[in-house]
Amino acid sequence: MSKKLFIETLGCAMNSRDSEHMIAELHEKEGYETTDNLAEADLILINTCSVRERPVHKLFSELGGFNKKKKAGAKIGVCGCTASHLGEEILKRAPYVSFVLGARNVSKISEVLHKDKAVEIDINYDESEFAFNDFRSSPYKAYINISIGCDKACTFCIVPKTRGDEISIPDNLIINEAKKAVNNGAKEIFLLGQNVNNYGRRFSGEQEKVNFTELLRRLSQIDDLERIRFTSPHPLHMDDEFIEEFAKNPKICKSMHMPLQSGSSKVLKEMKRGYTKESFLNRVEKLRSVCPEVSISTDIIVGFPGESDKDFEDTLDVVKAVKFEQIFSFKYSPRPETEAEHFTNVVDEEVASDRLSELQLLNNEIIDEKNASLLGNVYRVYFEDLNRDNFVAGRSDNNIVIKVKGSEELLGQFRDVKVTSIGRTILTGEIVA
Ligand code: 5AD
Ligand code: SF4
Repeated sequence: MSKKLFIETLGCAMNSRDSEHMIAELHEKEGYETTDNLAEADLILINTCSVRERPVHKLFSELGGFNKKKKAGAKIGVCGCTASHLGEEILKRAPYVSFVLGARNVSKISEVLHKDKAVEIDINYDESEFAFNDFRSSPYKAYINISIGCDKACTFCIVPKTRGDEISIPDNLIINEAKKAVNNGAKEIFLLGQNVNNYGRRFSGEQEKVNFTELLRRLSQIDDLERIRFTSPHPLHMDDEFIEEFAKNPKICKSMHMPLQSGSSKVLKEMKRGYTKESFLNRVEKLRSVCPEVSISTDIIVGFPGESDKDFEDTLDVVKAVKFEQIFSFKYSPRPETEAEHFTNVVDEEVASDRLSELQLLNNEIIDEKNASLLGNVYRVYFEDLNRDNFVAGRSDNNIVIKVKGSEELLGQFRDVKVTSIGRTILTGEIVA
């Protein structure tokens, strides 16, 4: 009988890839198979996120629940970003936890497993050339890390403290991983990094300087690879060369995430984002002028310390001007070890909630108007998800999610799909070719 692993993954795509890496290491080196049934697991992992405040007591109450339900002798490990920043405290508050493994120490999973009360959270640890074993939860779309950590110092963000300084993975390792995924049937790769278009800023060993634009060119030469996506780029590093390559390279999907955070130049300065309202709008204009079909998504924080009504109006202004295809909006949440944690000009909770609602209402109007114009259009869809009720869902090149009636034979296939009905987050269509 193989040993069983139960793993819960919170947070971003990076965490999903870290979980895949841990599953692969535990499978190859320790003989674990995954299970959805907590009660039969020999090892329970929770891969945590700390980007916004998920009250710490919620993590501990969840851990308490795991401890009650686990079978006798099963181990519990806490991994990821909250592990990085709480470290030892987790063992103090939940003594039944066996180990704490930081977001930048994933490769040590099979070591900590055999140590008593291990805490491995070194944010300077370098895993950029570690040869992870291979596991993918989807054979159709392959997540590939291209860099780890983040060199920026956005005053609201905890990530540099949980994932450390930015370090790029050598391009030949990325290309080999992409080729392997494509040989195993993936037609799409999804490049991951905190700041993908800052790729090449620092490597751990001697190596040719390759920037993100060049990396994209090299990856797009892989035969049988049809689509390249990536997240997240930083608006500050969107130079013309990058935008032009994005527009003209047919393998690069025409979907760009441009995290705005705020539309007020004053707030952006306080956030240390490195761009202004005007320079952000200039990059959007350049992008749309060379690539009119692009869909642009963004992240916006409301209620950052010192955000006045006028500052919030600036954010709404940018939203009205850009008409983003998708907005991920958040209320500011003070994080430990960040600069903004000490800012005193706090925005009233109710004011922040009202701003969030207003922003989301505006966004919904924009999305509804845009979606209405899509009825009858035909898109090339790559199917990747089997939904309930005999629907299969996929994405167009420019990231529109469309479902059609069908079965698993469609997974991993491209089809031309005509949009027949409209919902806010997902459209329905029928295959025409
Ligand atoms: N409070 C609220 N939202 C945050 N984000 C990052 N840090 C915070 C914070 N302290 C948001 C940003 C980022 C996204 C991943 O999470 O918008 O782009
Ligand atoms: Fe991902 Fe950031 Fe959450 Fe860490 S804190 S899991 S990097 S979103």
